Amino acid sequence: MSAPTSSILWCRSGAELARTAADHVAELLARKPGAVVALPTGQTPLGLYGELVARAAAKRLALAQARFFNLDDYLGVGVDHPLSYARFLREHFLRPAGVAEERIRLLKADAVAVEAECGDYEAAIAAAGGLDLAILGLGTNGHIGFNEPGSDWSARTHVVRLSQETRATHAAQTQGQFHIPEYGITVGIATIAAAREVLLLVVGPAKARALAAFRAGTADPNWPVTALLTHHNLTVLAEAELQTANLQ
Ligand code: GLP
Repeated sequence: MSAPTSSILWCRSGAELARTAADHVAELLARKPGAVVALPTGQTPLGLYGELVARAAAKRLALAQARFFNLDDYLGVGVDHPLSYARFLREHFLRPAGVAEERIRLLKADAVAVEAECGDYEAAIAAAGGLDLAILGLGTNGHIGFNEPGSDWSARTHVVRLSQETRATHAAQTQGQFHIPEYGITVGIATIAAAREVLLLVVGPAKARALAAFRAGTADPNWPVTALLTHHNLTVLAEAELQTANLQ
């Protein structure tokens, strides 16, 4: 497989990346107002969410008919918990953008019957007509959603054991304030691969190794992001400084 470097759009700044990503979402919604979109959590998409909220407020973006799912969350964490990804998305995007409740389906990370929730979640995505767009961040270890290195690429929504690296990264990000759960719940790589379009956002020097693995162009289960190499409609937006990042 050849390296798909031509499909990477290098952005000069975080602001440019956010604007380009928002343009991408806006184009989709112009084409298909009822589009079904899966959303990432993390620092990376914050600029995008800010752009989308600002455009929605200025009536330059019609979100009213779109439907939103999320990609992942910590297992067992309720929506009121500060670590909750569902809470994060509501706070940073869904509420300020004015998305109606009936157009939102987020993973119930604290469901008692978690296996049933995984099945219900996939059924809800299918009932919505499948994902038109999966927007992804990238883990330092190459994870997408919470699909960690070694994940089964044929998996749909499932419970995952989080890697030490992921838990340590997240502990550092929250200044050790919270116990980082050992498990997560995530849409699977097969769920992501089935999205009609994928938008991968890559920001920050900590992602250099994972992006390099992707650019190497070889599908490698140790780098889950390389599962995207065969996606037929993938756009990668990355900060330009990662183009020449020193991997040492
Ligand atoms: C977390 C999430 C991912 C996210 C990634 C990157 O582990 N499970 O969905 O994409 O981290 O986060 P950040 O954008 O904060 O670097």
